[in-house]
Amino acid sequence: LARARSGGAVPMAELHCHIEGAARPALVLELAERHGIDLGGIVRDGAYVWHDFTSFLAAYDRASLVFRDAADYCRLAEDHLTGLARAGAVYAEFFMSPDHAASAGVPGEAYLAGLAEGIRRAKTATGIEARMIAIGVRHLGADRVEAAARFAATHAVREPLLTGFGLAGDERIGTPRDFARAFDIARDAGLGLTAHAGEFDGAENVRETVEILRTSRIGHGVRAVEAPDVVRMLADKGIALEICPHSNLALGVCPDAASHPLRPLVEAGCRVTLNSDDPPFFATDLAAEYAFAASAGFGPGDRLGFTRNAIEAAFVDEATRQRLL
Ligand code: ADE
Ligand code: ZN
Repeated sequence: LARARSGGAVPMAELHCHIEGAARPALVLELAERHGIDLGGIVRDGAYVWHDFTSFLAAYDRASLVFRDAADYCRLAEDHLTGLARAGAVYAEFFMSPDHAASAGVPGEAYLAGLAEGIRRAKTATGIEARMIAIGVRHLGADRVEAAARFAATHAVREPLLTGFGLAGDERIGTPRDFARAFDIARDAGLGLTAHAGEFDGAENVRETVEILRTSRIGHGVRAVEAPDVVRMLADKGIALEICPHSNLALGVCPDAASHPLRPLVEAGCRVTLNSDDPPFFATDLAAEYAFAASAGFGPGDRLGFTRNAIEAAFVDEATRQRLL
């Protein structure tokens, strides 16, 4: 990292980005046309159209339907990672969702193979290191989430770039206990664990997610600030927080930049990382998230610290982690 920084800009890393949510509208339009798929008005004037979390999730689901084979997913991952590398990222993890691929008629194996090929091509072209986290979608129910965990456990054996399991979707549905079996399956398979919590539900859900699902990271977690004891628990346990500032602003989790809890969480001793979540949906990218931190008063050394936190909390083998650090 120190060597990467000597070039000037702070090297970046991210842990929280949904691969279909990283699809540029232009790519989605191109593939929709090629495959004859009606986008239902989710892209207007080159931008995604949605107005709240529910309609965002619907637009995201719709955009994900244009990826129809391994080659489409390869292109998506390669595009995403080469863009990140050119912007100054040295490491990236992204979420992949076997349920979204199934909705598009693509078997999980082809989905995984396409994305893995995209990672390999991006690494060859730019040197960026990347890993995948399979996610279950909580609003599809515990059985589907468990199936996603079994997919991850089975396929991680043959695909070393698949290193984690996570939980996304509508946090207002279900409780951590509903997903305990899924996380047991993933943990037994040696996968890294993370879950969205404290985004649309409160601090108690963050506490239960850590205690019941035993994740080492939390997606978002910003609403932990509503309970000082939960923030203390996160800091004491060294749980990494995958903070996504522009996502929180776009989805109304935080009313404005001044009230975003990035600084209080850092000052409370939490292991904070910066992430783009679904970049074109929220008119952001990873560089914009680092710029957000800069405008919140975090200097280059602080921002390098966010990158270091991400690499330390990454679901990656120790040799690669040490090389990146
Ligand atoms: N899926 C894609 N983006 C998400 C988010 N911000 N929260 C929960 N599920 C998601
Ligand atoms: Zn997310």
